[in-house]
Amino acid sequence: MSKIAIIGAGLVGRGWSIVFARAGHEVALYDSQAAALDSAPRQISQTLTDLHRNGIVDEAAETIAARVQATGDLIDALSGAVYVQENVPETVAAKKAIFAKLDETAAPETILASSTSGIAASRFTEELAHRERCLVSHPINPPSLIPLVEIVPAPWTDAAVVERTRELLAGAGQIPIVLEREIAGFIVNRLQAALLNEAFALIEDGYVNSDDLDKAIKHGLGARWSFMGPMETIDLNAPGGIRDYMKRYGPLYHEIAQQARPRGYSDALIDRVEKERRTALRVDQREERMAWRDSMLMRRAAANRK
Ligand SMILES: NC(=O)c1ccc[n+]([C@@H]2O[C@H](COP(=O)([O-])OP(=O)(O)OC[C@H]3O[C@@H](n4cnc5c(N)ncnc54)[C@H](O)[C@@H]3O)[C@@H](O)[C@H]2O)c1
Repeated sequence: MSKIAIIGAGLVGRGWSIVFARAGHEVALYDSQAAALDSAPRQISQTLTDLHRNGIVDEAAETIAARVQATGDLIDALSGAVYVQENVPETVAAKKAIFAKLDETAAPETILASSTSGIAASRFTEELAHRERCLVSHPINPPSLIPLVEIVPAPWTDAAVVERTRELLAGAGQIPIVLEREIAGFIVNRLQAALLNEAFALIEDGYVNSDDLDKAIKHGLGARWSFMGPMETIDLNAPGGIRDYMKRYGPLYHEIAQQARPRGYSDALIDRVEKERRTALRVDQREERMAWRDSMLMRRAAANRK
């Protein structure tokens, strides 16, 4: 097993620490804020205890947690690391600053990966001396329960770096997909954006309320989406497969696409959805509902594991 350096001990950095430590790697967890470093080990242990209780990890929580060393020393964290996963705040300036430091400090063969939710690596690695070892490995939060990772190389990323990253992530139990070329928002957030844009438009134009819209996904389309994607769905939904499906329904989808027009999210629209959500779920109930969401994710991860 190898040494992995995690940069940034926030929500996502802690999640990655768990992913690599439960796979048996030694993890160095670095943060520039002492408070984040102080609280991270306790938060990681708590999550590991929950994962163990739900049958998602076999080893004792303490055994896995002992593989994670929190440190405020960047040189220490990077020393001997084969792979670095960066998780600092989501701005181009912050990514540029930390990647400049990482590129200067880490051994040239160390892979430098960013967790960025949507910024292409070319926007913050272009001027680096060893830019060929930089790329994006975008997780879905929390990576300890949701396995997908989007690997997004910059135009100058070495193909061998992409392959080593894919192998490392797959070996740690994640499910990597590799983009053929970079695009802002990658795949997951672009799909989410397409769905949310249409959903907001349907609400704003008075076709549906937000509660029924959620039902359309959770009791409709989403029933299949947790185990198969939209391409497989349509391939199986017409007797002759995908070509047959598109012959039957392609004109409808094309007509819908032509009706779509880019628009912002007006205050009135946000007010309406906020009001509907707070009727469905009061502010003081949100925390309990978040715990319910996390336990549903745990149950799903445990079922998938079996
Ligand atoms: N939260 C999500 O759902 C999610 C999902 C996927 C990807 N991401 C991406 O992951 C990254 C981190 O997000 P997060 O939600 O964990 O944020 P967060 O605010 O929880 O954590 C950021 C951490 O970075 C630390 N930090 C700031 N500057 C630093 C520096 N120069 N060196 C070291 N540490 C530094 C902060 O002290 C903080 O602990 C972002 O790029 C975000 O877009 C987030």
